[in-house]
Amino acid sequence: MDRTSLMTGIEKNWEKFLSMPVSEKLPFFSRDSKIYDCLFAQQFDRASLSHIFSVADTLRTITKNKEGMDFAGSLLSHKRAMLYFVQPSTRTFLSFLNACHILGIKTGEIRDTSTSSELKGETPEDTVRTFSSYVDMIIMRHPTPNFVEKTAWLMNRTNRPVPVINGGSGKDQHPTQALLDVYTLHKSFSGEIDNKTIAMVGDLKRGRTVRSLSYLMKNYKNIKLIFISPKEFAMEKDILDFLKKHNIPFYETDNFREGIAQADAVYMTRIQDEHDKNKESAGVDISSFEFKTEHLNIIKKNAVIMHPLPRRSEIDPLVDEDPRAVYWRQERNGMWARAALISHIFSVDGQILKHK
Ligand code: CP
Repeated sequence: MDRTSLMTGIEKNWEKFLSMPVSEKLPFFSRDSKIYDCLFAQQFDRASLSHIFSVADTLRTITKNKEGMDFAGSLLSHKRAMLYFVQPSTRTFLSFLNACHILGIKTGEIRDTSTSSELKGETPEDTVRTFSSYVDMIIMRHPTPNFVEKTAWLMNRTNRPVPVINGGSGKDQHPTQALLDVYTLHKSFSGEIDNKTIAMVGDLKRGRTVRSLSYLMKNYKNIKLIFISPKEFAMEKDILDFLKKHNIPFYETDNFREGIAQADAVYMTRIQDEHDKNKESAGVDISSFEFKTEHLNIIKKNAVIMHPLPRRSEIDPLVDEDPRAVYWRQERNGMWARAALISHIFSVDGQILKHK
């Protein structure tokens, strides 16, 4: 189904649109055969990932001096973006804010619904529609499942559509985190992500980062996944079904030591207890899923240790000193990957590559 058919057909009813498979919805969130609204990790293919990584690499090189920074800052100085982050965030918010500023985009922000007219009873739908009266892009994090997608759906139906980027939605997806995670793998392994074994550890059931990262793995060859978690927080069936459909081998285990020993990348995550409804996390012992200095002797010599952050006790801060711990670089990579993505959406990525 193309975008025009989607505009005039089933999409008129949000619930029906939501129930469509993601693959069928993608044209609605694309323009000129490329990403317009960035909502799902499934929107990235190998070519677009590789392109965005080249743009990110080029941007970080050319902005090392004032002339390059001035050039980058002129590219989108005619644009404004709204950062609507009504769920706590440090690095996604700050990296998007700084990514916008690198490209010259002026920014506004709401970080708490108690400071917006939502407190007076305005619906979230009317709130996001209001943003589009003032800005050229909406970047958002929202606790309600699928609300970021609904915002993009609403925007595409107005006479002033603006692109929407998902900075984390409910428990479902965090596509730009997956983008920066794969960019970190790309940089850590000199562009060679094929043939790698990736262990994901922790709360795989409610961690939106591991869900989005699993989707991206379909773009690489001969990937193996190891899901290491307490049984209460095992990866959800929809992701396991996706991996089976794409012939990506995986196995699930609660044996942390055995799992991480086989991995080229160990992706640690924290328990997502903000999603607890009945204190589900309280009775779960996660002590055997924590990365301590003793585990540095178990993992491969060239492995990398990643974490989307923030962390609690799942990685001992003493591990930070090991060169295989890349999570601080990973968060910085996020700013460049997000700047590259925004430049791609606004079609100034070609100018960045030419500047090289
Ligand atoms: N990784 C991540 O989403 O971090 P924040 O919650 O700090 O944005």
